[in-house]
Amino acid sequence: MVFNLEGKTALITGAGQGLGEGIAKRLAEAGCDVAVADLNPEKAEAVAAAIRAGGRRALAIKADITQWDQVQQMVDSVIAEFGKLDIAVNNAGVISIKSVAELSPEDWDFVNNVNAKGVFLCCKAEQEPMKQAGAGRIINIASIAGKVGFPDLAHYTASKFAVVGFTYALAKELQRTGITVNAICPGIIPTQMWYGPGGLAERWKNPGEAMEESWARHQDTLIPQGEAQTPQDMGDLAVYLAASPHVTAQAINVDGGFTSA
Ligand SMILES: NC(=O)c1ccc[n+]([C@@H]2O[C@H](COP(=O)([O-])OP(=O)(O)OC[C@H]3O[C@@H](n4cnc5c(N)ncnc54)[C@H](O)[C@@H]3O)[C@@H](O)[C@H]2O)c1
Repeated sequence: MVFNLEGKTALITGAGQGLGEGIAKRLAEAGCDVAVADLNPEKAEAVAAAIRAGGRRALAIKADITQWDQVQQMVDSVIAEFGKLDIAVNNAGVISIKSVAELSPEDWDFVNNVNAKGVFLCCKAEQEPMKQAGAGRIINIASIAGKVGFPDLAHYTASKFAVVGFTYALAKELQRTGITVNAICPGIIPTQMWYGPGGLAERWKNPGEAMEESWARHQDTLIPQGEAQTPQDMGDLAVYLAASPHVTAQAINVDGGFTSA
C-alpha cells in the first residue's frame, strides 16, 4: 500500500513541539496541507514555516483546546483557509506527577480538562465538516497510560483511559458516516514530557543521579526493546490511519513492547 495523502488537509493540536510537531511534519511529507494548532503561537508558526519551506501549505492557529469557543474557531479557520478538514489529530496533552494523596482537585481538573475534555471538544467540532463531506479521519493521541496504570500518575492515567474509551464510543457513533476514529498509544519518547526541565526523567531521578542518567535508566528498564520511540513513529502510524478506510475503533500501541503480555 502506498500512503499518498496528496490534496488532504490535516489539523494537529499541540503541534508546536514534541509528538505533534513530528506528526504534522510526517503528514506534510505524505502530501497533506497542515493546520498547526497550539497554545503557543510562536511555536505553531515555526512548525508551519518549516512545513511551508518543504512545499506544503500550512496555517498556524493559536487555540486552547479546553475552551469550546476557541476549538470551534480553530476548526472554522481550517475550513476558511483550506475549504475542508480530512484528518484531525488530537494530540495536545499535559502531565503532572503526584500520588493520589498529594493530588488536589485542581491538579485533577487541569490534566483531565486538557487530556480528556479537550479531546471531546475537538472531536465534537471536527466531526461536523467531516459529516458534511461524508468522510474523515479522527486520530486521538492517548498513551500506554490509557492501557495500564502508573503510580503517581493516576489522574493522567484516568485521562488517557478516558481518551481510549471515548475513541471506541465515538467510532461506533460514526461508523456509518465515512469517518474513522482511532487512538495512538505512544510509549516513551524524549519530548519535554520526559526529557528536560520538569520532565519525568528529572522528576523520577534517584538521589545523586543526573537527568540524562535517569533517562537512560528508564529507557533501559521500562522499554523491552531498550530504546525509545520517536515522534516520527507516531507520524508514520498517523499516516497509515489517515490512509486506511477500514481501520476504526482501535487504540494501537507504539511502545517497543511495553504493553506486551
Ligand atoms: N512523550 C511521551 O513519552 C508520551 C507518551 C505517551 C503519550 N504522550 C502524549 O502525546 C501527546 C504529546 O505529548 P508530547 O510528549 O509531545 O508533549 P509536549 O509537552 O512536548 O507537547 C505538548 C504540546 O501541547 C501543547 N498544549 C498543552 N496544553 C494545550 C492546550 N490546552 N491547548 C492547546 N495546546 C496545548 C503545548 O503547548 C505543547 O506544544 C500528549 O497527549 C501526551 O500525553 C506522550
